Amino acid sequence: MTTPWTPIRLRDLSVPNRVWLSPMCQYSADRDGAPTDWHLAHYGARAAGGVGMVVVECTGVAPDMRTTSRDLGLYTDEQVAGHRRLADVIRSVGSIPAVQLGAAGRKSSHGVPWDNAGTRSPIPPEDGGWQPLAPSPIPFAGLALPAEMSTKDGTRVLEDLERSARNAHRAGYEALELHGANGYLLHEFLSPLANHRTDAWGGDLAGRLRFPLRMIEALRAGWPEDKPLLVRLPAADLLEDGLTEDDMVTVAAAMGGAGADLIDLVSGALTPKALRLTEPLHNARFGPRFRAAGVPVAASGLVSEPHHLDEAVPGLVDAVLVGRAILRDPYWALRARGADPRESWPKQYHRAF
Ligand SMILES: Cc1cc2nc3c(=O)[nH]c(=O)nc-3n(C[C@H](O)[C@H](O)[C@H](O)COP(=O)(O)O)c2cc1C
Repeated sequence: MTTPWTPIRLRDLSVPNRVWLSPMCQYSADRDGAPTDWHLAHYGARAAGGVGMVVVECTGVAPDMRTTSRDLGLYTDEQVAGHRRLADVIRSVGSIPAVQLGAAGRKSSHGVPWDNAGTRSPIPPEDGGWQPLAPSPIPFAGLALPAEMSTKDGTRVLEDLERSARNAHRAGYEALELHGANGYLLHEFLSPLANHRTDAWGGDLAGRLRFPLRMIEALRAGWPEDKPLLVRLPAADLLEDGLTEDDMVTVAAAMGGAGADLIDLVSGALTPKALRLTEPLHNARFGPRFRAAGVPVAASGLVSEPHHLDEAVPGLVDAVLVGRAILRDPYWALRARGADPRESWPKQYHRAF
């Protein structure tokens, strides 16, 4: 019988269990976008804490595709060297290293959260801010007005994605996730509320899907055939006239056809007005509908008590990603598993029990 602790196979990768660390920006990269000692300490502790896979935070595919100037990147050789160290640490203490790649679109170029009391405000050009690119010149809340992406910009972004996928492989990551939700570029292309284009990359859902599918193909071109590609997608916009669940099941199936191996569900977040779901397991509850797309499904979103794991896997989804609970406690997964500590915890800690 499948449980949250049963291994799952994605292409040639066997992930030892189905409880994974959700990607969470640390805004702690060095000035060149490379991982720092903070990342080694933070991810090292959590990789030793019983999660089957650690998905390293959203990592920019190009300087202008980062959210802040302290985001990680994977577009220079120095960054690759830093990520290699990070992936090695995660693997050496017992978890699978994965990384989330991000193209933030109109959500780019804002300050780090602790500089603005949690509000997103644009970085002024004199402080190194840049103009974001987006499908249409519609800003996100108080952020800078984005430039409408030209065909040439699109080609450049696809090249950035392919290069970053290649770099993720060079760094030794074993799985790759594309951030296609939370109002980032891929989500902006999909949603009729952010994509007002009249060319081949806009219009009906089939048109709005065209560029996102090329993004998946670009990643696949730089990422080995035997390694899995995950895509984080919104289950719905949760906004009037926005993407519906039906739209997104169609999108998920198309992504599977283009080479995605797992859909990681979140919801809303295209604009600050989107409904915020707050009950336990809220995104996992979309899982059964999305299984109809024929691709394995995972979800994050208030999986925070041990009993939530059994409610989620396998009934609702194939795996869960846990975020804030593991920020609070790196050993959350080991505690949730409830096994004999002398068998499940690192041997260095056995005298604690
Ligand atoms: C500090 C913080 C940073 C986050 N950064 C990212 C990110 O880099 N990429 C992403 O897809 N989601 C990000 N998220 C969302 C989480 O991955 C997760 O989906 C969300 O917190 C819901 O799961 P939870 O209830 O278990 O925390 C972030 C969340 C937090 C709290």
